[in-house]
Amino acid sequence: MYKDISLKPYNTFGIDAKADWLAEIDSEEQLLTIIDDMPDMPKLILGQGSNVLFLNDFKGIVLHNNILGKRIVDENEDSITVKVKGGESWHDFVLWAVDNNYGGIENLALIPGKVGTAPMQNIGAYGVEVKDVIESVHTLNMTTCQPKTFTNEECAFGYRDSIFKQPENKGQYFINEVTFKLYKRNYRLKTGYGAIQQVLKQKHIKHPGIKDVAQAVMEIRRSKLPDPKKIGNAGSFFKNPFVSQQQLKNLQQNYPQIPYYNTDKKDIYKIPAGWLIDQAGWKGKRFGAVGVHPNQALVLVNYGGATGQEVKDLANKIIDDIQHKYAITLTPEVNFI
Ligand code: FAD
Ligand code: EPU
Repeated sequence: MYKDISLKPYNTFGIDAKADWLAEIDSEEQLLTIIDDMPDMPKLILGQGSNVLFLNDFKGIVLHNNILGKRIVDENEDSITVKVKGGESWHDFVLWAVDNNYGGIENLALIPGKVGTAPMQNIGAYGVEVKDVIESVHTLNMTTCQPKTFTNEECAFGYRDSIFKQPENKGQYFINEVTFKLYKRNYRLKTGYGAIQQVLKQKHIKHPGIKDVAQAVMEIRRSKLPDPKKIGNAGSFFKNPFVSQQQLKNLQQNYPQIPYYNTDKKDIYKIPAGWLIDQAGWKGKRFGAVGVHPNQALVLVNYGGATGQEVKDLANKIIDDIQHKYAITLTPEVNFI
């Protein structure tokens, strides 16, 4: 257990907030002992810290999830069922699946973070969301220590959303294991999104396999997104907003070239927030230690030494400007602590 510790190495934004205490959690027993011994101490569960923004020092104990383990619990000719502990690295799990030619998560390669956090906001990229392969999520109640399993349906997954992200549940459940179903055959690769087809074509790959798709995704991501080891960030700062057909029509009158995507709901469309922020002139703008990334307007960055409040102030200015220019309200994807 560490006392009065800087959280800078524990969040990809590189914010130098302090925690009163930090415990490296290597087992469920250890977690339960802390809950028992310190019932009144405020607690923060932390994975890799790639989707948090610290606005203040944390007056309590940070529980850094390092619980490891992975086991195949069922296998047939078509699929495998695998249980993975929450402290495992998400990307390492993807690489394991890709190496074994298990399909389902290759489009989610290189997303930072831990397996236990993946259900929290239903991580997604390149036309796939983790909900597509989750069977169930196993949790421990942070007050009663009772285990509870949520089926896929009970997780209420949505776009960058789940039951665990709701204000009334946040911090209440420690996700300690996730059960995934991955595919061995009769599996259709998803190559239709973004530049995947283009990259495969450039490489003259006509009949791609799971590994080819993962490599294409990694290549695209490396070219687009800043590496948090070099420049502090938490990926997309805002969610892409949804608009009605009428709102889209109004926007198209002023901005005929506005990109949009269909959603699974009729007459509801998704607009890339990066495009709105870019068109509004924010891309590449720097204000002291904070700024909007020059290649991806949806990514706010810490050039070094920024406070969480400085990042939040910039985010609020962008929210106001987008509201004023397009009558669209941006919602942060990042969790404010
Ligand atoms: P943390 O930041 O540690 O935690 C996030 C939240 O979950 C916090 O509120 C925390 O308290 C809570 N939490 C953490 N662990 C647990 C647990 N075990 N049980 C319960 N609650 C918990 N996301 C995408 O969806 N798609 C992308 O393509 C993507 N690209 C990114 C690219 C970059 C460069 C970066 C920096 C981030 C990107 N992200 C993306 C966001 C981020 O990687 C994901 O949200 C990831 O799942 C966060 O995992 P983490 O372990 O770092 O979570
Ligand atoms: N765009 C611009 N200017 C920019 C950035 C984007 O015009 O500065 C336009 C692009 O030209 C493109 C569109 O916006 O037409 C979408 O851009 P991109 O493909 O880069 O994806 P995104 O919508 O910005 C989303 C996710 C990412 C995910 C990618 C790939 C959200 C909030 N973000 O980004 O997830 O990796 O798609 O699927 O849904 C994250 O959640 O942290 C994250 C990085």
